[in-house]
Amino acid sequence: MTIAELQTQAPAVTASALYDALLHNTAPFILDVRNPDDFARWRIEGRTGLTVLNIPYYDFIEDEESAVARVSADREVLVVCAKEGSSQYVADLLRTHGVDAKYLEGGILSWGHLYDTRDIIVASWGRIVQVTRPARGDVSFIVISDGAAAVIDPLRHTTPYLESVAAHGARLTHIFDTHVHADHISGGPALTRETGAPYYVHPYDAIHPIDMLPATIAYTALDDGQTYRIGQVELRMIWYPGHTLGQVNILAIAPDGSRYLFTGDGIFLRSFGRPDLGGKGEAWTPVLYESMTRRLPPHLDDATLILPSHFSTLDEADESGRVAAPWGIVRRTNASLAYLESEEAFRSFVLGNLPAFPPQYVEIKRVNIGLRTPSETEAEELELGKNVCALAK
Ligand SMILES: [Fe+2]
Repeated sequence: MTIAELQTQAPAVTASALYDALLHNTAPFILDVRNPDDFARWRIEGRTGLTVLNIPYYDFIEDEESAVARVSADREVLVVCAKEGSSQYVADLLRTHGVDAKYLEGGILSWGHLYDTRDIIVASWGRIVQVTRPARGDVSFIVISDGAAAVIDPLRHTTPYLESVAAHGARLTHIFDTHVHADHISGGPALTRETGAPYYVHPYDAIHPIDMLPATIAYTALDDGQTYRIGQVELRMIWYPGHTLGQVNILAIAPDGSRYLFTGDGIFLRSFGRPDLGGKGEAWTPVLYESMTRRLPPHLDDATLILPSHFSTLDEADESGRVAAPWGIVRRTNASLAYLESEEAFRSFVLGNLPAFPPQYVEIKRVNIGLRTPSETEAEELELGKNVCALAK
């Protein structure tokens, strides 16, 4: 590109175009111009190898030459700020210096709000749809068959689910949370209010683990071994305590014999859910060990597709954005499973690799069982950044 061509206004890149580029590992070099504190709290993350640099906006105002000199001139640059204004300014400025700069439309806020909807499988019996919030590493699902739909682990904003269910000519009949989440506000109670479909959760999670106060939301208790029918698909609840006391894995059995295990935080593709988010890591670690050694293999053949509710790194998603892998692959490639060899090895691995406990997670669990109702601004603040539900290693 010539300097003359570059001396036009910087083009905008949408959050969904950015996500597509991150999945395909074709994203440009990202220049984040927010202040260092905001950058440290959360930033855009992609596959291994993505370059993200923080040069605050005011550096470009105070000393333009030296700030510009820190940006590589021979690469495409995507400038990101909180809302859009300062990134547009910096991108325009960089173009006058011959840098091929674009800016993220709507800033990092629009990245944080991006929901991505994709099919996991489309079959004669129906389909499984995946709805993710890439900035948070949160994943949820819709099972649709014969005009009925079940949502599993819905995220806070309900529109993507309502739109997807309607687009497939279905009616929402069941809403499940595999457990009461700590990292994000569930869309379950809101979907119940909006559609009348019951919201299912295990009763052990309907008590705040730290406050010991009972839920005030309307929910229907689910139980180990219980089954529900969504069109031609059977959903079987498998109680799997440890991450929370009421965590369940949900096994979907399709009429063609294919099986799908919605694992919540029970197991991820590369890690598993930490047992300390109820404030009782020491006590819940042996419970998790028991679940992981006794409650996964009996139900699983190698072809069962594992569908977790989080990823820690985008490397866990394939190029089409699906966060899914057959159990035969997960049991060989999820390195953290090696520690299941003995309870003592598991215990020291788990308790030695717990990431910092985000203080807002206690409050989010309150919100999720109705003990607190945050404003939209408070909800945004509580959910800021990426989940830390997995063990660090
Ligand atoms: Fe969780």
